[in-house]
Amino acid sequence: MAKSYPTVSAEYEQALQKSKRKLRGLIAEKNCAPIMLRLAWHSAGTYDVATKTGGPFGTMRHKEELSHGANNGLDIAIRLLEPIKEQFPILSYADFYQLAGVIAVEVTGGPEIPFHPGRKDKPELPVEGRLPDATKGSDHLRDVFVKQMGLSDQDIVALSGGHTLGRCHKERSGFEGPWTSNPLIFDNSYFKELLSGEKEGLLQLPSDKALLSDPAFRPLVEKYAADEDAFFADYAEAHMKLSELGFADA
Ligand code: HEM
Repeated sequence: MAKSYPTVSAEYEQALQKSKRKLRGLIAEKNCAPIMLRLAWHSAGTYDVATKTGGPFGTMRHKEELSHGANNGLDIAIRLLEPIKEQFPILSYADFYQLAGVIAVEVTGGPEIPFHPGRKDKPELPVEGRLPDATKGSDHLRDVFVKQMGLSDQDIVALSGGHTLGRCHKERSGFEGPWTSNPLIFDNSYFKELLSGEKEGLLQLPSDKALLSDPAFRPLVEKYAADEDAFFADYAEAHMKLSELGFADA
């Protein structure tokens, strides 16, 4: 779909650049890149292409959306970001949360993701139940990413590589443990670990393992495990699409 990006004022652009520096500092200080990426993804991943509702429009700051089961723990990310957001009242929450996701990937060694500003905060919250269920397989992943969000098979596999960062917390999701041995580094180790099988201390969700058993997904897992540049290129494209669902559509 062709995008037609809005232009933002010089003042807005300057606030973006300054807030980027503050975000880099916050993430370095608190080691919170993983939860920032999860916040950006859970904000955007509620988009429904059929009804044009949900998506990356700043609604996650509201208690009601934070109380959706899939968002357990994301109140921490909102709380960490608020003191920076307060310094830049001109920025929309929508842009700011997506910027935090982009910076989280950048500062942990991942690819640069093009960022286009100008998202407006929307008042309507998404309904609960649009984010994927970790206990399900590839049909469910396609229902969510392809049918609901309008993304592709390749986007599913590339974006799943976001699990190179961070870990599961028993008290938030019921699962426990990281996917890789370096959860603060964005690299292609998620795919390498996935192919090498279960390992003591590391975790693979049923939805991660689904990438191995699906005939369309598996070749991409193998490609990304063998070629980090290919992963980074596809990840950057998929992340940008995710961050712009419902935004700037012509
Ligand atoms: C494919 C479907 C997906 C499922 C079923 C899924 C499920 C989960 C679950 C259960 C957790 C653990 C939450 C916790 O206990 O703290 C988690 C964490 C995480 N997810 Fe996903 N996820 C999916 C896709 C993605 C995508 C597309 C991204 C980003 C591109 C992503 C990024 C993350 C990150 C960075 C964490 C770690 C958060 C932390 O360490 O605090 N996930 N995911």
